[in-house]
Amino acid sequence: RIVYCNGVFTPEEDARISIFDRGFLFGDAIYEVTAVLAGRLIDNDLHLDRLERSLAALSIPMPVSRAELEQIQAELMARNELAEGIIYLQVSRGEADRDFLYPEGLKPNFVAFTQAKKLADTPAQRNGISVDLTEDLRWARRDIKTAMLLGQVLAKRQARTDGYDDVWMVQDGLVTEGSSSTAFIITADNRVVTRPNSRSTLPGCTRHAVLRLCQTHGLRLDERAFSPAEAQAAVEAFVTSASSFVTPVVRIGDVAIGDGRPGPLTRRLQSYYIEAAL
Ligand code: PDD
Repeated sequence: RIVYCNGVFTPEEDARISIFDRGFLFGDAIYEVTAVLAGRLIDNDLHLDRLERSLAALSIPMPVSRAELEQIQAELMARNELAEGIIYLQVSRGEADRDFLYPEGLKPNFVAFTQAKKLADTPAQRNGISVDLTEDLRWARRDIKTAMLLGQVLAKRQARTDGYDDVWMVQDGLVTEGSSSTAFIITADNRVVTRPNSRSTLPGCTRHAVLRLCQTHGLRLDERAFSPAEAQAAVEAFVTSASSFVTPVVRIGDVAIGDGRPGPLTRRLQSYYIEAAL
C-alpha cells in the first residue's frame, strides 16, 4: 500500500514518524475518515469542514491547503486503485521533547492512508447489529475528532467479550452515541430521533446527510436526546457513520428492537443514502 507521510507518497513500510510525535505521546492529534464508494469520496466536504474545525479547536494549523488535502486524497485513491473503502487523515501537533506544555510553532505531522474495505451491503447492514449500553467515560469535548480513543476502544472490546457487536454510551441517563457512530431511534409515531449536536457527541457527517435525506423525503424528525429505556421501547433503531453508512440496530442491551429485524424506515434510509452517494 502507498501511504502519505508529510509531503511524500511512499510504501507503508518506509513511512516514519518520530517517537516524540505528540499524537503518539499525548493523543495530541485529530483525524478524519471519509468513505469511498464506486471510486468516489462520500460527504467529503463535510469531513474536511470538520477537520478544519477540529484543528482550530486545538490550535493546530492546517498542514496543507484544503485544495492540497483533496489532491492527496485523490492521489492516494489512484495509487492504491481504491474503489471501495476509506481514506484516513491524521494531523498531530508535531514533535517536541516531552512536555505537557506544547511549544509554539511546531510543524504538524500529517499522514494519510487508504483501507480497502466493503462498505455497502455488508452483513451488518443486511442483518443489523446488537449494542450494549455502557457508561460514557470519555473526556468532555467529544465534538472534536481527536485520536484519543481509549474510551471507545475499551468499550467496544468489552461489548464483544459480552456478546454484542458494539455499544451505545450513556451519560446522565441519556444515550450519547455509539463507539464510532451516531445513534438514532424511530418512535411508534414514525419520528426519527437523534441527539442534537453539542460538546457531548461528535457532529456526524453521515448524521448530517441522513437528516437532510429525512427532510427531502418528508420524514418527521426530532433532534432531542433519548434515554436507554426509550431506545429499548423504540420500533426501530440504527447507527450512522462514514464507515457503516446506515446500519440497523436490532438489539439494545437484552431487548430486541421491533421484531428483532431491521425495520422499514431504516431500510428506506439505507437506500436513500446509497442512492445519494452514487
Ligand atoms: N468514526 N461518533 C463517533 C464517536 C465517531 O467516531 C464517529 C465516526 C461518528 C460518526 O461520524 P461520521 O458520520 O462523520 O463518520 C460519531 C469514524 C468512522 C472512525 O473513527 O473510524
